[in-house]
Amino acid sequence: MAPTAEFLSSPRVKSFNQNMNNVYDKGLVKITPSNCTQPVEFMEDVQAILDFEVKPDDVWLVTFPKCGTTWTQELVWLLMNDLNFEQAKRTPLTERFPFLELSSIITGVKKPPVHSIDIAKNSRSPRLIKSHLPVELLPRQLWTVKPKIIYVTRNVKDVIVSYLNHHQLWLGCSLTADEFAEGFMENIPKYTPFWDHVLSFWKLRNEANILVFGFEEMKADLSSVVGKVAAHLGRPVPEDQLPALLDHLSFQKMRSNKAVNFEERVENARQDLGLRPAASEGLKFMRSGAVGDGQQRLSEDVRRKVDAWTDACLAGSGFDGPR
Ligand code: A3P
Repeated sequence: MAPTAEFLSSPRVKSFNQNMNNVYDKGLVKITPSNCTQPVEFMEDVQAILDFEVKPDDVWLVTFPKCGTTWTQELVWLLMNDLNFEQAKRTPLTERFPFLELSSIITGVKKPPVHSIDIAKNSRSPRLIKSHLPVELLPRQLWTVKPKIIYVTRNVKDVIVSYLNHHQLWLGCSLTADEFAEGFMENIPKYTPFWDHVLSFWKLRNEANILVFGFEEMKADLSSVVGKVAAHLGRPVPEDQLPALLDHLSFQKMRSNKAVNFEERVENARQDLGLRPAASEGLKFMRSGAVGDGQQRLSEDVRRKVDAWTDACLAGSGFDGPR
């Protein structure tokens, strides 16, 4: 059955849009199946994405936004390209590792001239494809062709403050951290509900073609995650090259690396919306790269609400990842 969409219309949704420079003026919808929130414009492409042809040698990176996608993309690209650091620094990651549904979710600013679905489709094999979509909205052939899939998750309070930063950066969001968290728990931002997204992949973690890990593991022991990903992809890292790889992937290096730090894209998007340069607001895509900011930025009251909501969402699931 073709997916269906229902408009979100609560007072909080209206205020969310007003606080995002009205980029969701055409409306946000909840899609069945999945309950995933997207701008209504996404529905124009939902079927094309479900029908997207998957190749056995593809590598898919799927995450909920802000869980370490860019970090993992850079790692995967380097593993798949013989650690070609020079090419990695020369070529924007967005060109090396296409984002499947990018054109389908952009609202309020200029869309890229070529549709992101076509860019992903026509990229050179082995194709590396990023998506934030939940299991139910991803290409159906992923579950029959079974290419390598990597899924990264992160503790929810850090996701909330990082996603707030993302909305401030790209859309000039004027909500406070607590207000954004309340909206997040009501499944208003794109790609929510968060826990459904994580749980449906976590349930697939023992499938041979699927590797699941957390941002926190990358922070605690990047070299061990590099080993896991390298083994998953069958691309071992020569021992003498590991220090250079870890250095390239460090937060400081990635923060100043124009091929991965989104500086130029952010400024273009902000210009389209008539916003001041991100630097003048102290905003960066590579914000802090830390674990635990959610504990600092959210009020005690909202932290308690997030904990209770998380407990309810995870009840009976046996989930033992970062929460
Ligand atoms: P913060 O906003 O908490 O700093 P995504 O790529 O999924 O959008 O995730 C972005 C988050 O990953 C941001 O988190 C960003 O700073 C963090 N990140 C990106 N590269 C990183 C790195 N090399 N080390 C640590 N964190 C990194």
